[in-house]
Amino acid sequence: MITDRLPAHVAIIMDGNGRWAKRRGLGRLLGHREGYRTLRKVLLAASELGVRYLTVYAFSAENWRRPEEEVKGLMKLIETAARDELRVMHKNNVRVRVAGRIDEVPATLRQALCDGIETTKDNTGITFTLAINYGGRAEVVDAVRAILAEGGEVTEEAISAHLYNPDQPEPDLMIRTAGEMRWSNFLLWQSAYTELVVVSETWPEFDENSLRRCLDEYATRTRKFGAVVDEPTPIPHG
Ligand code: IPE
Ligand code: IPE
Ligand code: MG
Repeated sequence: MITDRLPAHVAIIMDGNGRWAKRRGLGRLLGHREGYRTLRKVLLAASELGVRYLTVYAFSAENWRRPEEEVKGLMKLIETAARDELRVMHKNNVRVRVAGRIDEVPATLRQALCDGIETTKDNTGITFTLAINYGGRAEVVDAVRAILAEGGEVTEEAISAHLYNPDQPEPDLMIRTAGEMRWSNFLLWQSAYTELVVVSETWPEFDENSLRRCLDEYATRTRKFGAVVDEPTPIPHG
């Protein structure tokens, strides 16, 4: 694996839990449960590889449109996971954060998340951000409202400084599983120059090796940020 061009911040759109379950004749919630197993492995692998920030899309602001049973099951799963994983995450020096309109999620889940954030706030290992009830547009609206409430001027710098986690660097790499080539309202503002890697595996099928492959793909990219950057000259054929 190429390690000298490791992304500092990796964001993941964990998609395909439903399809994974459907293909096996299982209910969607079993797909989400399997997805949770993947997340445990991937967080550990990212941390061991030296990734500094991992941000994952767990529930979008639009996911409330799903059947009530699925929404309830997901909220419960995230809450149980947050409680069950706290001890091991803390032991592994993980700093837990959230992104999203957390005031709108069930109170018991909010409490579990707040406990996790508080317990791990001084940890110095990987920063793990769970995006829950997260929408990229809502995040920008919330930032602009905060600026206006302070009587400030709306500039790009001010918006960046008022995002949910303004101290975090913008994602270098965005991974989406299950083949869909869209952002689905994830980190819209901070992904302006993020490298995108889409893999066909569903999220429950994704593993440490898949992550390594994505990091290798990232290492081959030339980031230009709008400027002119010398790329390696391709060897001519013939
Ligand atoms: C992603 O898997 C998990 C969440 C959105 C919570 P999906 O549930 O979207 O899986 P598909 O896209 O239906 O396969
Ligand atoms: C994005 O996946 C949200 C999460 C992974 C939590 P969706 O499955 O909700 O996205 P769309 O609806 O296919 O765009
Ligand atoms: Mg999906």
